[in-house]
Amino acid sequence: MTNFHVLTLFPEIIYGGLNHSILKRAIDKNIININCINIRDFSNDKNKRVDDYPYGGGYGMLMQAQPIYDAYKSIKKNCRVIYLSPQGKIFNQKTAYKLSMENDIILLCGHYEGIDQRIIDEIVTDEISVGDYILTGGEIPAMILIDSIARLIPNVLGKTESFCNESFENNLLEYPQYTRPEIFNGRTVPEILLSGNHNEIKKWRLKQSFINTVVKRPDLLKMEDDKMNAIFTRRSIRKYKNEPISDEQLEILLKAGMSAPSAMNSQNWEFVIVRDKNHLSKLSTLNPYHQMLKDSALAIVVCGNTSKILGDEYWIQNCSAATQNILIQANEMGLGAVWLGVAPYEEKMKKISDNLNLPDYVKPLGIISIGVPDEFKQPQNNFSLEKIHYEKF
Ligand SMILES: Cc1cc2nc3c(=O)[nH]c(=O)nc-3n(C[C@H](O)[C@H](O)[C@H](O)COP(=O)(O)O)c2cc1C
Repeated sequence: MTNFHVLTLFPEIIYGGLNHSILKRAIDKNIININCINIRDFSNDKNKRVDDYPYGGGYGMLMQAQPIYDAYKSIKKNCRVIYLSPQGKIFNQKTAYKLSMENDIILLCGHYEGIDQRIIDEIVTDEISVGDYILTGGEIPAMILIDSIARLIPNVLGKTESFCNESFENNLLEYPQYTRPEIFNGRTVPEILLSGNHNEIKKWRLKQSFINTVVKRPDLLKMEDDKMNAIFTRRSIRKYKNEPISDEQLEILLKAGMSAPSAMNSQNWEFVIVRDKNHLSKLSTLNPYHQMLKDSALAIVVCGNTSKILGDEYWIQNCSAATQNILIQANEMGLGAVWLGVAPYEEKMKKISDNLNLPDYVKPLGIISIGVPDEFKQPQNNFSLEKIHYEKF
């Protein structure tokens, strides 16, 4: 069962809004549970006040930290605490999916002009917004989250209400749908849908989904959330702050690299880590396009071990896959990185090999320059229908 714990001053809004139709059925079947905690019940004030004037002056009242904190403590769950706030990350289907995997979720609904910052710092794990507009309180956003998360929980939707192939699946809008009659006001149903050829229908639908998305919501193709985020927002970052990268961060990056696919699973990569500032400076002089290395926190030189019998012919592909994994993981961790090419140029490879004392059978593919980013680049949407060819070129 998934428990939604809602910290609110108005439980009746939540119960009134959600106890109907599909969600009511899910509650009755004990698939989900909605548990409202009235923050006012935890006020220590004799008049049960929960708000006060903001320090430093300004309009409106703020919700005080104490009643919220005590209400939160009463739940006794170590789980995500989501504060519904226009300052949060915009909610979307991917986030709904992620949250549908949780057993307990605490939703904190603010009111008045907001809540004491210290409660956000103390207990909130995620701030989520349902759009760029202001509402009178967090209850309606909390209901939006509960509705969209709950319907993704197994058995909440019945068979006929299945959520496959609908808008936002795979970041694509849905394809157009038609039902009887075949001709309406002179408008016909696309012939392919009447063909009975399920393979062709599937392909047609996928193509229509792409077209729909490109035309109506191109922003979805550079989705700002989740796994796709790590891919779309990865850009080559060449300016870094003078800040270090920890051993733990480095280990995660290397784990990402070693999780790459490799031909015959040979995993014939080797990684040389360069952290010494003088060494980084030296490396930066070996190639005019590698100058940013002198300001990076570290460099990972990705090399292929060609001594192995199986898969060694593919060392470039294997190491490229590892490099790309590291770049994506670096971005995911808020680090900035850029791929610096070395192979297949013999002369460039020799300079690096000499510098790192690489044995003959270890070939440098490239260098990943990594640091705490000191520049921001917009996500790039390179999606192009012209690059896609169906069946034959
Ligand atoms: C094989 C390869 C070699 C590259 N070599 C360099 C390089 O030597 N110096 C550099 O600044 N960027 C280098 N890059 C980064 C590309 O310039 C960059 O990926 C491309 O311009 C696209 O920009 P983006 O990564 O921000 O999307 C290289 C990228 C690849 C894949």
